[in-house]
Amino acid sequence: MDQRTPAAPAVPAAPLGTAATATVTALALLLLVGCAADAAEHGTRGAAGVGDRYFPRLGNGGYDVQHYGLTLDYAPSTGRLKGTAEITARATQDLSSFNLDFAGMTVDSVTVGGRRATVHRSGTELTLRPRAGLTRGETFRTVVRYSGVPRRITDPDESHEGWLRRGDRAVGLGEPTGSMAWFPGNHHPSDKASYDIRITVPEGVKAISNGELRSERTSAGRTAFAWHSAEPMASYLATVAIGPYKTHEVKRKEKRKEGTKGQAAVPVVPLYTAVDPTVAEDGAELLAELPGIIDWETKTFGPYPFSSAGVIIGREDDSEYALETQTKPFLPGPTSVGTLVHEVAHQWFGNSVTPRTWQDMWLNEGFAEYAEWLWEEHTNDIPVQRSFDEAYADDDNWAFPPARPPSAANISDSPVYGRGAMVLHRVRVAVGDKAFFRIVRGWLRTYRHGNVSTDDFTAYVEKESGQDLRGVWDAWLYGDSRPTVI
Ligand code: TRP
Ligand code: ZN
Repeated sequence: MDQRTPAAPAVPAAPLGTAATATVTALALLLLVGCAADAAEHGTRGAAGVGDRYFPRLGNGGYDVQHYGLTLDYAPSTGRLKGTAEITARATQDLSSFNLDFAGMTVDSVTVGGRRATVHRSGTELTLRPRAGLTRGETFRTVVRYSGVPRRITDPDESHEGWLRRGDRAVGLGEPTGSMAWFPGNHHPSDKASYDIRITVPEGVKAISNGELRSERTSAGRTAFAWHSAEPMASYLATVAIGPYKTHEVKRKEKRKEGTKGQAAVPVVPLYTAVDPTVAEDGAELLAELPGIIDWETKTFGPYPFSSAGVIIGREDDSEYALETQTKPFLPGPTSVGTLVHEVAHQWFGNSVTPRTWQDMWLNEGFAEYAEWLWEEHTNDIPVQRSFDEAYADDDNWAFPPARPPSAANISDSPVYGRGAMVLHRVRVAVGDKAFFRIVRGWLRTYRHGNVSTDDFTAYVEKESGQDLRGVWDAWLYGDSRPTVI
């Protein structure tokens, strides 16, 4: 891999002067010309980050990815991954160079538009300079070949993500920055794309990813799984889980159950499930809940947003938390039903309607937590108001306003979840039940497969309710202290 050499500005040799001023002038001229060349270059250089308040270097400017085609080959015994990432993107400005986010591994070669590009790596920034500049509006294809043992990433809050390897098993988890450990890309939630993920593993081992299984082919003792995700996906939701999983596919063509008056009683999309054999029994019990959860959430929130659903149930030591990986949440073992309800709710809140920045993550977690409260009422007769009261009484939820975590180390803290859910409940109290659920479904319909900010949310709720809810936002969303409930 060659390092990019800094562009040397072409400066005419300064005429030999006798006075010191001439030298100074020449030097100044040289500096000026240097700066001008630099500025011209800056003008068409894609930014190294999208300016996320918590992760300023995450994502990149100047292009918009449409599709990722990942072809991966994994050897569980050594932990080695060989990958090819084919990235189809559209230039949103003229580009002399652009960046990808990538952590660890080795870059073996890069082409842009079929021609070798020069590569420069610095930290998690991969800067690519195509042979010819790209023009605004142009669609171009970048192919990165890479290899190595992908790394585990430690988050600012000390939790772990990225490539998590346990013996012969491995899982790629990406919230908020982990996906850069196993493929190069534009790793900010604001740039969603469709995906084709192909993974080859030794015969007998399973490789599960997002979306639908297009093919599974074995030859010479190795099996290639091809997974397709047509709907846009933020890169933090991409996953592959490799291990001795027991997999199951339920094709869902039947839409109606007798006597449900046209309501979809079972999911209308295929279900793909994968369960680690060591947790088969409890796993099966949890799996049995999945169709009912999807069905109830579909009735509550509106149409399921993807072409398939499912879940991956791994082992307890696979990861430190569950993650709502798109179409198939990853669970480290058979978790509580509440956790499954939470991760499935993220398919609507977070995966279809995705935060514009990490600051807006309370829109994911507040809604997913609120879904758990609704489920408790629906199945166990625990009133939502009681869940609210418990959250209200919990001091941890009042450490900061939900859309203002003090630092990147706090983006998964209690206020983002508990206080986020409280905000939603206070909206419900203000607008009434009927309007609340109408607004929630409208929100999901309006921003389906898009990105949203906190301002989008408050504006939408006010417009749709016809109410000025400044009091709710000031006290529950933005206020520093616990408001009095009257
Ligand atoms: N966002 C995940 C969920 O709510 C949980 C999660 C992902 C998490 N990364 C984390 C929790 C890091 C704590 C720390 O389903
Ligand atoms: Zn969550």
